Amino acid sequence: MLPAIHDTGTGAPVLFLHAFTLDASQWDHQVAALSGDMRCIRVDLWGCGSSPAPPAGEPALDGFAAAVLAALDSLNIDKVAVVGLSMGGYLAFTLWRLAPQRIRALALCNTRATADTAAARGDRLAMAEQVEREQSVESIVEPMVARMLSPGAHDEAHIVDPVRGRIRRCSPAGIAFAQRAMAARPDSTALLASIDVPALVIAGSRDAIIPTQEVRAMADGITDARYRELECGHLSNLERSRAVNQELATFLTAATMAS
Ligand code: MLT
Repeated sequence: MLPAIHDTGTGAPVLFLHAFTLDASQWDHQVAALSGDMRCIRVDLWGCGSSPAPPAGEPALDGFAAAVLAALDSLNIDKVAVVGLSMGGYLAFTLWRLAPQRIRALALCNTRATADTAAARGDRLAMAEQVEREQSVESIVEPMVARMLSPGAHDEAHIVDPVRGRIRRCSPAGIAFAQRAMAARPDSTALLASIDVPALVIAGSRDAIIPTQEVRAMADGITDARYRELECGHLSNLERSRAVNQELATFLTAATMAS
């Protein structure tokens, strides 16, 4: 089942993959900055944004990655640069595992290559059950906002209010699918050495979900990676949108012109 697709601008295609509990609109600032020169393709995870509910069956990132590839096929797009933040990065690794020939560059923001610990997996499954039991995502809104944004950003209504709105647009089924699929994802550390396209890796110095050391270690495993650390929390593209726009513009322009 195809996800909702948002297709903006013209030029070399760039695929943006959003974080957990958010949707494609997470990338609005980047699309506004880049779509004059690039074709910005965004998808909403099943059950989030404008996408239909997740399909029946075992939740897996592979299933959604296959749907993303089918979405690109439906647009007659063969190769893309991929930009993923956090869960979007886990999906980028999944795409690289399934179809590396379709990726011309990788920008990995606030993400990790490793799989979950047993404790993290348990927390994910507990949240999946909680939202299903409550048939609402309301109880996760403030805890997720507190984890994802740095303390300074909590006072910025233009950042925090849209984050709350995006979480509320996810259905309990969408949250449960994402948590179970992330809990089941394999370790991608062994894939890093196979990445032979240019990579940009962005970390947030105040990221409470994925510490900079982990992001740095991931970048060190990729041959052609530029590592950038920004002063911000987990959602670097929202808290430091101008800096991320500049990094992406420079990186994507060079990467798409070179190939
Ligand atoms: C995200 O921002 O996508 C999630 O926090 C990732 C995760 O839960 O590992």
